Amino acid sequence: MQKITAAITSVGGYVPEYRLTNAILETMIDTNDEWIKTRTGVEERRILKGEGLATSDMCAPAVLELCKKRGIQPDEIDCLIVATITPDMVFPATANIVCDKIGAVNAWGFDLSAACSGFLFGLTTGSSLIESGRYKKVVVVGADKMSAIVDYTDRTTCILFGDGAGAVLLEPSTDGNGVKDSLLKSDGSGKDFLNMKAGGSLKPASMETILAKEHNIYQAGQQVFKAAVTGMADAAYDLLERNHLTGEDIAWLVPHQANKRIIDATANRMGLSHDKVMLNIQRYGNTTAATIPLCLWEWEKQLHKGDKIVLAAFGGGFTWGATLVEWAYDTAS
Ligand code: UT7
Repeated sequence: MQKITAAITSVGGYVPEYRLTNAILETMIDTNDEWIKTRTGVEERRILKGEGLATSDMCAPAVLELCKKRGIQPDEIDCLIVATITPDMVFPATANIVCDKIGAVNAWGFDLSAACSGFLFGLTTGSSLIESGRYKKVVVVGADKMSAIVDYTDRTTCILFGDGAGAVLLEPSTDGNGVKDSLLKSDGSGKDFLNMKAGGSLKPASMETILAKEHNIYQAGQQVFKAAVTGMADAAYDLLERNHLTGEDIAWLVPHQANKRIIDATANRMGLSHDKVMLNIQRYGNTTAATIPLCLWEWEKQLHKGDKIVLAAFGGGFTWGATLVEWAYDTAS
């Protein structure tokens, strides 16, 4: 019997209209465009504005776009996974809400929490469902409405994050393309450096947690930076090595967009020239689980059948890793 692999066969994305520029941030907090650009690479981020709008409202258009491009109906989806740390509600899962909004009436689904590595963790999970032979159409969405948990008086975090959603469709292939290998890691001892302390079972919401701003994202920037540079670069390098590949074999690096300096370090460690690196941090900032699928969405037309690409991420948890994908299709331009 031929081995089944999980091929990415369509991509969709969504970013909100509103642009929060560095110039606007300069009017809100003690910062400046030059500092933000040189330390992070971010120039503007998109923010989901409007009463009653949540993460599912960004997932839905991304998944509908993917269905339209592939020529399928939402009721053909077997399973939908949403990687997010900003679900619409603690429960039910945002995946259920998305399925309801788009009419994916035959799908089951669940949310996956792995912060900035969420899309990679979801991609590996979704691929396993396809490889089992039991499911034919699995959608993996990476989506976050980071503006819901950012403290816009904290200059060390509010300059970094934005909102967005990206999604891929996985289908069985017997050509050997698709998700080839994943090297994923997690280390819970990193929990103190990047987190949202309250709102879970450890610290349910109270007046104290609200006043202490414990429903906002907290990041010890330098500690996370150091761990991210090593974690992301090592994972990408080790993945290449165990697949007997070098940077020359790789068409694109698709990195999590947290900081341009972390991305540059990863590309250097892989021996990859910087024109092979997808970079949109300047326009969207760090959209957490959405960064990698948003890159695939934007670069889709430049990807060709047979291209080997490496996706790499590092985030809260700590979670990190790298995934090797052989691209499965050419897009008619
Ligand atoms: O996606 C999840 C994983 N997250 C990451 O990978 C992020 C990792 N961390 C980083 O990207 C960086 O640590 C940051 C971008 C968050 C911060 O950059 P940094 O080069 O590590 O800056 P720093 O925290 O060492 O701060 C340097 C200085 C400080 O001033 P002093 O103490 O030297 O006087 C900060 O107070 O920059 C100051 N500063 C700012 N200045 C202007 C901090 N934030 C700002 C700001 N504008 N927004």
